[in-house]
Formats: sequence, C-alpha cells, structure tokens
Amino acid sequence: MEKQSFSRRFFLKSVSVVGAVSLIPSKVKALYEEVKNYFVPPKEVIPLTININKKPYTISADTRATLLDVLREQLHLTGTKKGCDHGQCGACTVHIDGERVLSCLTLAAMLPGKNVTTIEGLADGDTLHPMQQAFIECDGFQCGYCTPGQIMSAVACVKEGHTKSVAEIKEFMSGNLCRCGAYNGIVESIQKVAI
Ligand code: FES
Ligand code: FES
Repeated sequence: MEKQSFSRRFFLKSVSVVGAVSLIPSKVKALYEEVKNYFVPPKEVIPLTININKKPYTISADTRATLLDVLREQLHLTGTKKGCDHGQCGACTVHIDGERVLSCLTLAAMLPGKNVTTIEGLADGDTLHPMQQAFIECDGFQCGYCTPGQIMSAVACVKEGHTKSVAEIKEFMSGNLCRCGAYNGIVESIQKVAI
C-alpha cells in the first residue's frame, strides 16, 4: 500500500519536473548551447603530417588530440607509455627537435614542421642507443613501464649537461617517476653514458 502511494507521488513529481524543463524558453536553451560550445569547442578533424623517427606520417586527427594519443592509438607506436595523462609521471616523454617534452601535454596539431623522436627511433638499426645499453647493464628497470620515458629523459639529461653529480642527475630526472624504485640503476646508467 505504502509502496503504491510513494510511486504515485514520485510519478506526479517527475511529471512536474519534466513539464518545468519543457517550459524553459528556447532563448535560454540557445544561450546555454552557445556558452557550452565556447568552453567545449565542437570536435574538428584536420589533416596533419608529422615527422616521427625520421619518417613522415600523414593522418587525420582531432584538433584536441595529444601527441601521446596519436602515437599510441593512431600510429600504434606504443613504446611511449601513458601513466598519469596529466604531466606528472614522465612515462610519456619523447623528444621534439631534440628537446624532451611530455607527449600527454602536447597537441599533435602543433607538430607539423617539427621532428619527433620516440623510443622506437632511438636505436640505430639493431644497435641499441648507448643509454638503452646502459639501462640493461646497470639494471635501470624492473617492470619496464616507466623505462621508455626514463631513457628519453636520460638522453636529454646528458645532452643538457646536467650530470655533474648524483644530486644534479636526480634533480633533472625528478619528473620521471618509477614505481618499482629502480632509481639507483637509472642514475648509474646516466653516469655511465655521461663519462
Ligand atoms: S603520462 Fe604524461 S606525464 Fe604522465
Ligand atoms: S621499472 Fe617499473 S615503474 Fe619503473
């Protein structure tokens, strides 16, 4: 009995809410759509040609797509890892024109004319980059998930000359997190290559 009267009351309330919404003037609805579109621009797909690992890739991409998503989802270059997707872990580090950047914070639409290097482009054919070799020799990884980002950052760290002390290496590698705690091996790898 109680359940029936609740259902009737609920039904009447629901009907009145729906009625109230339908009474919102169309001008207010149009204004709402306009404001929404201002803050959340509608999807726009554009053609892009991006040089990645010395090879041009022509794709169609959402103007809002990040380099990380284009690499992984569209080009299947899955060596670059997605950790936080918010610029906080370094797993997605790649090089653009030789500088390290976080691909999760980089729009693909900004890259035509630039050269992107990912972990897949670091080795010279079958010969590993010295930093990749050092990571193997110094146990610079455990599960390996953070490793591509660590290696890309480590290569840049050496190139930037931030290798004068363990403290300096740690500071300039602090944007790359390793949940396995392979930090000692990572620092050792960098020291080995920096000599
Ligand atoms: S995935 Fe880009 S910084 Fe974490
Ligand atoms: S090696 Fe596992 S997260 Fe770094």
